[in-house]
Amino acid sequence: MSYPSSTLQIPDTTCVPRHVAIIMDGNGRWATQRYLPRVAGHAKGVEAVRAAVKACISRGVGYLTLFAFSSENWRRPADEVSMLMRLFAAALEREVDKMHANGIRLRVVGDLSRFDARLLQLIEQAENKTQSNDRLTLTICANYGGRWDLMQATNRMVAAHPETNEYTEAELAPYLAMAYAPEPDLFIRTGGEQRISNFLLWQLAYTELYFTETFWPDFDADALDAAIISYQQRERRFGRTSAQLVEIRKAS
Ligand code: IPE
Ligand code: IPE
Ligand code: MG
Repeated sequence: MSYPSSTLQIPDTTCVPRHVAIIMDGNGRWATQRYLPRVAGHAKGVEAVRAAVKACISRGVGYLTLFAFSSENWRRPADEVSMLMRLFAAALEREVDKMHANGIRLRVVGDLSRFDARLLQLIEQAENKTQSNDRLTLTICANYGGRWDLMQATNRMVAAHPETNEYTEAELAPYLAMAYAPEPDLFIRTGGEQRISNFLLWQLAYTELYFTETFWPDFDADALDAAIISYQQRERRFGRTSAQLVEIRKAS
């Protein structure tokens, strides 16, 4: 099953965002402020992931997508990259049974071809084990880039339909890495920067954007609630006017 596209059809909106996508930024600065090595910030960041997952489940969010490692993060010092990979593997090993017990379906999306065999095996086992769960779909974007996603989708679409010379949005969408999820309703970036950093370029077309100065390791259930409250105050027009929305509300 695939979800409707916000540009082809006006989606239903709900009071609680159905899909929250987060750029978890600020781990390094959180650590530096405390005279700790950057990796201590990443370790603390894993704890914040646990808290965010729990809060999303209790608030009724159905999809949580977390940007863990971008296609550009390979540009970091090799020791930081390898520590991040180790933390990711350790978190998978430690948390999968708990996730499964809590009804979480785990998906890892991105160009996984650069990961080592052991990490790939952990990812596959975790995805297989949790594939039938439906309380929360937790997507970890690892070696993910919005441009990578658009290119891999385009290449697979063209390979499947080489006879076509003009493709449509609807034909491309099923090949995107997150075709199993609705488009995000709410995007959150922690750490103070106001940019997308090559995250979900296609899927964020009509997502509400929320930026906070809070560093990711300090992001807790209250911080999530503040983002959701901000979201609830937005008028999602999807191209229409405010007056049209008033008419629709009166009619319903
Ligand atoms: C986000 O925190 C985590 C990753 C990108 C893996 P950063 O490591 O980018 O933290 P800052 O932005 O340097 O503070
Ligand atoms: C974005 O954070 C990627 C992740 C959180 C995984 P960065 O810290 O890499 O982003 P830039 O470099 O500041 O744009
Ligand atoms: Mg950063």
